[in-house]
This record gives sequence, structure tokens and C-alpha cells, in this order.
Amino acid sequence: MQNKIQAAITGVGGYVPEYRLTNKELEALVETNDEWIRSRTGVEERRILKGEGKGTSDLGAPAVVELLTKRGIDPMEIDCLICCTVTPDMTFPATANIICDKIGAKNAFSFDLGAACSGFLYGVTMGASLIESGRYKKVVVVGADKMSSIIDYSDRTTCILFGDGAGAVLLEQSHEEGYGVLDSLLKSDGSGAKYLHMKAGGSVKPATMETVAAKEHYVYQEGQAVFKSAVTGMANASYELITRNNLKGEDIAWLVPHQANKRIIDATANRMGISSDKVMLNIQRYGNTTSGTIPLCLWEWENQLKKGDNIVLAAFGGGFTWGATLLKWAYDPK
Ligand code: UT7
Repeated sequence: MQNKIQAAITGVGGYVPEYRLTNKELEALVETNDEWIRSRTGVEERRILKGEGKGTSDLGAPAVVELLTKRGIDPMEIDCLICCTVTPDMTFPATANIICDKIGAKNAFSFDLGAACSGFLYGVTMGASLIESGRYKKVVVVGADKMSSIIDYSDRTTCILFGDGAGAVLLEQSHEEGYGVLDSLLKSDGSGAKYLHMKAGGSVKPATMETVAAKEHYVYQEGQAVFKSAVTGMANASYELITRNNLKGEDIAWLVPHQANKRIIDATANRMGISSDKVMLNIQRYGNTTSGTIPLCLWEWENQLKKGDNIVLAAFGGGFTWGATLLKWAYDPK
């Protein structure tokens, strides 16, 4: 019998725009202060994509280009590109199509995947399945969000949290058995929609003068309700995933959590028995970039990863969607 094909991440890229929106600057926009934001969320600054006509594809495309350049891969070799986002350039066509056009990936089929903050986890799982099917050799998963396009900068409960950014990974067949994307535990529960959503602009409530005046095209979040579900959802999924793979906290080299709130991240690490030096944390510099957080962490930490590291990716977000993915890292940094 032929061995099962295993998918592995074989390259990482990332991109954050230059402009830094600091807590100090937000103090001038809304009734808040640096101390509250740092202690309640962990965020110190976030990046914002400035410029007329710039969208999420302008974050995703450079992340993919960096990944391909590092690996010396021609864009024409990509079979499929999945863009995980809640801030597409436009409702249609898919931002993935636009990214492929911008980078010259003319042989790829491409589509967007909407699972909010868990988008990248869902994308990696879907991409890995395409590789495992044996039909596709190179699948790119990009998590990209221009959250500043859907944030109300007069709402202090949300504007302090979010930022813009993108990260991308390449999935290919693993060269060695037992390395790569080993397991995923993904969940969703649409009853959580009431706590985190955008009120207008969809088919239920298309855009009108009234919806714009009522500020219904921005992120609406009931923070405490989301916080409570996130703490249990992310921690339980991560714990269950490692337990069913006969692993303990001490076996995990890195926890790569979605960066929504440092307190949620700490709770997840505690539940898993993982010490803080093994937790990737960049929320202080980028805030919550939704689909971008996890691949941006992998991008920044890539040089510290070693072949054979057990890595857990974990997320919770809008939907609700949540889950965790277990990787055995498949390559050493160059
Ligand atoms: O990635 C998508 C998933 N999203 C999440 O995981 C986010 C989950 N939620 C959270 O991270 C937190 O709930 C928030 C950071 C959004 C809020 O933190 P909290 O500790 O839950 O604050 P709270 O809503 O309970 O508010 C506590 C107090 C309130 O004042 P009173 O009523 O106690 O007087 C708020 O009005 O803090 C006040 N407050 C602020 N104060 C200064 C709320 N926002 C701010 C602010 N600056 N920006």
C-alpha cells in the first residue's frame, strides 16, 4: 500500500505596513490611556496601511512574494492560493484572485476563506488536505486583514485592539514521514455571531445612507462575552489536541496563539502547562491582525524554529470559530 502523503509548511513570509498607530495617538482620539490598553490587552502599537486605493491584497501580495523569493519559487509553480480574510478588497471577486494577479500566479486556482480570527487555522487545514489528496504540489495559505478599514476610531472598545498585516506559508509534501501538519481540531458555533459581527453591508442589511450614518459597517463586539468564550475555547481545543496526540506541555516547543488579548494567551498557555518563554507574542507590536496573527508570528520566529519542534497553533474568533493545529516543524532555518 502506498504511504499516506503528509503536508508540511516549507516556507514562511510576512508583511506589515510602515505606519505605527501608538497608544499615545489613540489617547487623542478616544477616552483611553496607555496603561489601560497595555494592562487589559497587551497592545502597545499596531500597524496601519495608509494610502488611497490600498486594500488587503496590498498586504497579502508582498507577504507571498517574500515567501516565494526566500524559497526561490516561481509564482507560476503555485497550484492553489487560499486567502483567509474578513476584510476582502471587495465583496467579489475573491482577494485571493487579486493577489494571484498581482504576483503573477497564473496557474493557481484561488479562493477566499472566511473564518475570522481562526481563518489561518482553517486555511492550513484545507491547504494540507489538498496536498494530502496527491493532486496538488504547492499550496499557499495567506492570512491577511486590513482591519483599519472596518474599525470605528471613535469606539474605544475596539479601536485599541486591531491592526493591519499579513503572513503566508507554503504547503508541500513533507520529505520525511511524521513531519508537517499532524492534526487539527477545528470548531464553529454560529450562535456566537451576536457577540462579534458587522451589522450592515451583507445581504441581510445592504448598505444604505442610514446604515452608514448609524456606523453599522464597523466591527461590533461585546468584549466580555467574547473574552469568556475565547479563554475556554482556545485553551480547551489546544489541551484536547495535544492530549489526543499523547503530548504534554513540556513536549511542545512553541505555542503560536492568535493575538487578540494577552490575558487569553496566558490562560491558554497555563492550561497546557507551557511556560511563557515558549509562547510567541507580538501583540504588543501589531495588535490583533485577525487572519494575520499566527503566520506573522511564524514569520518573525522562523529563524528560531528547529526541525522536529512540536508546534501548536491556536485561535478563537468571530463566528464563533476556534481550534488548534499540531505541527512537527519540517525544516531548519537556513
Ligand atoms: O480576535 C477576535 C476575538 N476577540 C477577542 O478575543 C477579544 C475579547 N475581549 C477582550 O479582549 C476584552 O473584553 C476587551 C479588551 C475588549 C475589554 O477588556 P475587559 O477587561 O473585558 O473590559 P470591560 O469591557 O469589562 O470594561 C472594563 C472597564 C469599563 O469601565 P467601567 O464600566 O468598569 O467603568 C469600560 O468602559 O474598562 C472600560 N473601558 C476602557 N477604559 C479605557 C473599555 N474600553 C476602554 C478603553 N480605555 N479602551
